Amino acid sequence: PLIGVSSNGSKDLLEIIEANKKDFLILYGSQTGTAEDYCKKFAKELHSRFKELHILCGDFDNFDFEDPNTLGNLVGKVKCLVIFMSTYGEGELPDPCANFDDYLNNVLESDELKNLPIMIFGLGNSTYEFFNGAAMKLKEKLVDEAGAKLIGQIGAADDSIGNTEEEYVSWKDAAFELIEQEFNLKGGENLLFEPMYEYINYNGADTKVFKGELNKNYLSAEKDKKHIGPFDQSYPFLAEVSESKELCNPVSGRNCVHVEFDISSSNIKYETGDHLGVIPQNAQEHVSNFLQTLNLNADEVFDLHLKDPTSTLPFPVPTNIETAVTNYLEITGPVSRQTISQIVQFIPESEESIRQRLVEISSSAETFHKEIIEAHLNFADCLQYVSSTFNWGQYIPWTFLLETIPSLKPRFYSISSSNLYDNNKIHITAMVEVTDADKLVGGVTTNLLNEINKGSNSKSLPLHYNLSGPRGLYKAESYKLPIFVRKSTFKLPDNADTPVIMIGPGTGVAPFRGFVRDRLVENSDSEMILFYGSRNIDDHLYKEEWESQYNGLSNLKVFNAYSRDPSMPKTYVQKLMLDQKDLIMNALKKGAFVYVCGDAGTMAKQVNDTLISIVSDKQEISVEDAHEMIKFMKLNGRYHEDVW
Ligand code: 2AM
Repeated sequence: PLIGVSSNGSKDLLEIIEANKKDFLILYGSQTGTAEDYCKKFAKELHSRFKELHILCGDFDNFDFEDPNTLGNLVGKVKCLVIFMSTYGEGELPDPCANFDDYLNNVLESDELKNLPIMIFGLGNSTYEFFNGAAMKLKEKLVDEAGAKLIGQIGAADDSIGNTEEEYVSWKDAAFELIEQEFNLKGGENLLFEPMYEYINYNGADTKVFKGELNKNYLSAEKDKKHIGPFDQSYPFLAEVSESKELCNPVSGRNCVHVEFDISSSNIKYETGDHLGVIPQNAQEHVSNFLQTLNLNADEVFDLHLKDPTSTLPFPVPTNIETAVTNYLEITGPVSRQTISQIVQFIPESEESIRQRLVEISSSAETFHKEIIEAHLNFADCLQYVSSTFNWGQYIPWTFLLETIPSLKPRFYSISSSNLYDNNKIHITAMVEVTDADKLVGGVTTNLLNEINKGSNSKSLPLHYNLSGPRGLYKAESYKLPIFVRKSTFKLPDNADTPVIMIGPGTGVAPFRGFVRDRLVENSDSEMILFYGSRNIDDHLYKEEWESQYNGLSNLKVFNAYSRDPSMPKTYVQKLMLDQKDLIMNALKKGAFVYVCGDAGTMAKQVNDTLISIVSDKQEISVEDAHEMIKFMKLNGRYHEDVW
């Protein structure tokens, strides 16, 4: 996402630091953009607080790590190296850190970093065995082996309990104090907002104004009807929704949409178990609510100039406010407490009651959670909640909004089709998160998919999107959405004779639908055991398919748990697994691979514990030994989790 940090295209870290006279390095490794957002926020706050620091902030992906001295060279050149690192899969570094990971494993020499001060903030999810495993690996390699000097505690945000922002705030407060002491800095007390970009009113030609167009190369390939990747977030493929359907019975009161994308006019390759990134757009209703609340003019065209050549632009410019808000700002997500507390600085003292209210709701995490987060208020809602009559737009600058509101990120779905069975198609299975039926809060992309499904007959969406825009959700024949494939390690065993145990309640069943289809094509007769769960028969996903379509697989066994069927006791997949202890243990003895997909909150952990208890019971070993066995399976790629 970050475009080259140096103007001459160099990827040499030392050269960039020296050429730009930097003395403080902040790097991030980010899979979906969260670590990137926090890292940039940190860099910005640090800059406003300690003006004497010359900060370089970038993605590991921006630099070469082939030279064994890449980091060693920094000793004495930078005051400190701060790293924001998210963990992916079984304790792994995010994909864009592949080269850096290689460097850590094979190139970095021991004691190389003696005396280099380093700080680490990890973003992870404690339902995984190797919680914040990537941050821990940094400590092991950079501090324990290469001798860097760790300053302060390693931050350990836990997404499963939603504490990332709070963990960040307390880690950062401590970090600022440590940095001030360690490097003898004079810290300014008040953190006033200071724009990173110079904001310029644009009066040039309209043809130069970016209105959400796809990349130029893409548009020229459109003429040839052949799209050649690689596709990613900045160069997505505009795929036609060739089919969609609702999977839940209307009486369930839930919506889960099955969407099929046609990839035949591209060279996209995917493998069963990969993820699909879908690039969303905010619905016009949400955009206008945001613009109105903040008194912004949708058509105002602006340009941005970088104040620091090592930073990057958030989107193509010149553009207009509506394009930026529609495509780049996360305006419907949960609002950040820190952002609300930062707004106080813009409100004049004459508006004491507004200032007081803002301080009141944002100074305590508990109050904020209760009043704002639990009520599912987004940024504009939150301001209106504080005062629906106050003229917010008169005081809060657009530059603050565009730099502070998180970027609108692609949403990732486990692919539910098989590249062997579903030629030229990618299927996804998306549960529509509607947390407040009246207001349509929640999943920006799932709601868009749901609207596409509802509108697919009439070819007009009940909610309004920018259908005629160049990103073109809607062409005369069909809807199109920008997509790209992200590789995953959630893969069937190479050997089609290996048995598999799959646990996927809810939409966690998605990749297993693909697995089963793979094995159907491979004509495999090895054992496949699936534990599935839904509330009842009405939200039982792909029920008919399981009952008839996969009959060709003599060894497929499907167990269904209903958690809210009035005619039976509440049942979760864990209970069915316990009922099938022998089956599971026998499969494990035959070398079965285990796959868990779905809710990261409690399900994955409980399934893990259930397996441990089954192994301990059936093998007559202690729970600790059984735990070690399961952990060993994870380390050896025989136990995979894909949870969110
Ligand atoms: P519930 O919502 O009725 O509690 C898909 O979401 C299914 O997973 C639902 O039946 C849901 O049940 C169930 N589920 C919720 N929490 C779970 C957990 N910790 N373990 C297993 N299944 C769970």
